[in-house]
Amino acid sequence: MVVPVIHSMSSIQHPASSGQSCLLALESSCDETAAAICTLEGELIASRIASQIDIHRQYGGVVPEVASRNHILHARPLVRQVLADAGKTLGDMAAFAATSGPGLVSSLLIGTSLAKALALAENKPFLAVNHMEGHLLSPFMNGTGPVRPCVALIVSGGHTMLVRVHGIGRYELLGRTRDDAAGEAFDKVAKMIGLPYPGGPEIDKLARQGDPQAFAFPRSFLDGRSLEFSFSGLKTAVLYELPKLDLKNAQTLADLSASVQTAIIEVLVEKLVLSAKRSDEPLVTVSGGVSCNRGLRDALTARCAREGLQLLLARPDLCTDNAGMIAFAAVQRFNAGHTSPLEADVDPNLPLAG
Ligand code: KG4
Ligand code: ZN
Repeated sequence: MVVPVIHSMSSIQHPASSGQSCLLALESSCDETAAAICTLEGELIASRIASQIDIHRQYGGVVPEVASRNHILHARPLVRQVLADAGKTLGDMAAFAATSGPGLVSSLLIGTSLAKALALAENKPFLAVNHMEGHLLSPFMNGTGPVRPCVALIVSGGHTMLVRVHGIGRYELLGRTRDDAAGEAFDKVAKMIGLPYPGGPEIDKLARQGDPQAFAFPRSFLDGRSLEFSFSGLKTAVLYELPKLDLKNAQTLADLSASVQTAIIEVLVEKLVLSAKRSDEPLVTVSGGVSCNRGLRDALTARCAREGLQLLLARPDLCTDNAGMIAFAAVQRFNAGHTSPLEADVDPNLPLAG
């Protein structure tokens, strides 16, 4: 089933022909406040992120109210900074966009309200962007060519999805996680073994010194042919192992990290290859925060070369949340004639595809 992402046409005139050459986008779905400017050709010319990681680390995870208060503090200065970086003014923008879901409602409201206010003040269109569409299209940024049909793996903190891309807005969900997302599995295991939030990058670093065969953690392939994921069993297996271990021993911690990471990576790589073969699709893409992971990038590169698959990985600085990918997705939509009404609501569970 092919289900387009929700977007509607607004009554505001499409001004691409009247001299404005760029689009400004805001991202505030979780704990990063970000702004970026893309040309209407899809080139990212300015991108800034105000990270709140240090603030939320002391709580061991994101505190929604703290996140939205900080979005308010950072959003306007970021807009000024990206305009200065790009050497542009608000008048050079053909449209304004913001992430409208999925994410934390109170956080989404900050970015969308500011983008709508800018659109209203400048009398330009507004575009509501699906955060997952931002991740999905990010491998096509910065010179990797136009968006084209592929099988995409999105691995973030909140989602793990296999999606068949038929074209812009024509996305078919092939599989998703039944419980934890891959990033969530990294973060939860990291918390259990005393690593700071967010745990994914910490496990990635430690794993480089560890033995991936040291612990035989489960690879949840479900029925072997399924394109669904499940990572909660891995968390439980680590929990049972912990009482036997001395986590003050640096090598033990590294071995545990390498073994957990490999258990996650093997499942991701296997299911991506399976879905590409089943779809008879030679191009595969991988995006989302977990796609920063060095072990995953290496394993994907080696396996895709063996299988004769073309692999596009999101650039490392575009893997974790950023507004560049939102601007890029918005440009694709805008160029196809789409805009959103100023009444467009945020949706914490906004689906990418059915
Ligand atoms: O895409 P993202 O920035 O935010 C969401 O949309 O969720 O993904 C954040 C997730 C976190 O779970 C984080 O631990 C994970 O991406 N992550 C990593 C790495 N860098 C970020 N996981 C494994 N290895 C990494 N290097
Ligand atoms: Zn994300």
